[in-house]
Amino acid sequence: MNSALPHTPIHTPRHVAIIMDGNGRWAKQRHMPRTVGHARGAAGVRALVQACVDHGVEYLTLFAFSTENWGRPSDEVSTLMGLFIQYLEKEMKAMQAEGVRLRVLGDISAFPVELQERIEAAQGATVHNHAITLNVAANYGGRWDIVNAVKSWGHANPGLSVQSMTEQDLTQHLSTSGMPEVDLLIRTGGESRISNFLLWQVAYAELYFTDVLWPDFDEKQLDKAFTWFGSRQRRFGAVTA
Ligand code: FPP
Repeated sequence: MNSALPHTPIHTPRHVAIIMDGNGRWAKQRHMPRTVGHARGAAGVRALVQACVDHGVEYLTLFAFSTENWGRPSDEVSTLMGLFIQYLEKEMKAMQAEGVRLRVLGDISAFPVELQERIEAAQGATVHNHAITLNVAANYGGRWDIVNAVKSWGHANPGLSVQSMTEQDLTQHLSTSGMPEVDLLIRTGGESRISNFLLWQVAYAELYFTDVLWPDFDEKQLDKAFTWFGSRQRRFGAVTA
């Protein structure tokens, strides 16, 4: 897969997940409102998606808005919603040109109807794109995902006892159903936490924490993370021969 690229590590992660942290601090360092940091953070997403395509990544999952983010000041919540709407509007052409399939993971029923409609339209319009799947996690929480999967399994199997549910059953009812587990989880902004992101899906992921703030996390930083990933020995709980 893309082995001819100059900086491609030997082991390319199939599924990369990113906690995009540090927008507020990036803005504060420049004496600007936090919302400017979010705008700058959103502006860098396109180049990173393209870099992932170039590296042969198949799934990129970005944590855009957590179930806990509703607790932020209302102007910041509105800015994040606005940026999401803008992203869907402005990036549609590029996503089509680059073969990006968009999926939104999370409970979108809590969003304004206009945003819900745009999300549905964008998902529909990109459904046949195959270069990469871009998952935007919005109003997402890892615990929500697991509880929702259990409920969904129950609906699909009304005659069965929950005692018969297997790990595979649950995996198939998560929002990431049909996708590979996360290989590499990146968190920017200096914290070393999972923060209720893809809890089930990161069970065997390599965890890469960097102090770089999200608006400064560019293709070079992504290369660094991939090189680090390529140097890791993944044993999945077993021992090496
Ligand atoms: C964390 O930084 C970042 C967020 C809560 C939002 C991330 C959203 C974007 C980058 C924009 C929307 C994305 C897309 C894909 C359209 P923080 O505010 O917690 O930073 P801080 O820790 O420095 O305060």
